[in-house]
Amino acid sequence: MITAFLNLKGGCGKSTSAVHLCRYLLDKGEKVALVDADGQATSLAWVGNLDEGIKKPAVFRLIEPDPLMDQLPTIAQGHDEVVVDGAGGLAEVQRAILLLADVVLIPVQPSTPDVFASAEAIKAVRRARQIRSGAPKAFSFLTRVVPKTLLLNEARETLGEYTDVPLLKTEIHQRQVAADVMGQGTTLFDLKGNRAATELARQYRELFEEVGYGRA
Ligand SMILES: Nc1ncnc2c1ncn2[C@@H]1O[C@H](COP(=O)(O)OP(=O)(O)O)[C@@H](O)[C@H]1O
Ligand SMILES: [Mg+2]
Repeated sequence: MITAFLNLKGGCGKSTSAVHLCRYLLDKGEKVALVDADGQATSLAWVGNLDEGIKKPAVFRLIEPDPLMDQLPTIAQGHDEVVVDGAGGLAEVQRAILLLADVVLIPVQPSTPDVFASAEAIKAVRRARQIRSGAPKAFSFLTRVVPKTLLLNEARETLGEYTDVPLLKTEIHQRQVAADVMGQGTTLFDLKGNRAATELARQYRELFEEVGYGRA
């Protein structure tokens, strides 16, 4: 299965989510590939710096649309799970990913410009679905959430209205540990007992239930 994190906006947690989903799936014993489609190569650098003893996915850097179209299916054949860290803003790369992914996840920060930008990502999903007879499955989720804010309520309401791209119930909170972990040679799942890891795992279980792969 190819799962891609997409959003036009940077900074919404695509790379953080992609690396952690890989780590989660590796713990389940899956053979996992991480495809970094972002020129900044944040997730590749992260995986490259992981401490010895931490399970790592196979990594691929595909930042141009044509190589992505050509190579993603082959990578998917060779692995149980492919996680794509999608580029923010690059329309052609996004389109290539939307034509190949089984599941698209749209992380959204509860801010006005981010919620606005998510509408574009959702439109792009719909365009792909017209070509692909309904695929890919797609979900949005809120990231870097600060509880009890007006913006959060507005974001929930707006995203909740896109019933064809359901909003996952599990929200990822803004936490210092989640920001610190990038570049520290580790992941939240490898730090003992932190709530950030618990909520990520809960979100992935919710996702797999929704997708119906029954492997959570
Ligand atoms: N839950 C979180 N809490 C706090 N900071 C976060 C969280 N998720 C991501 N960040 C930080 O926000 C920044 C952007 O995240 P990143 O995963 O790189 O997003 P993207 O790949 O969409 O640009 C990074 O500095 C990252 O460490
Ligand atoms: Mg990134």
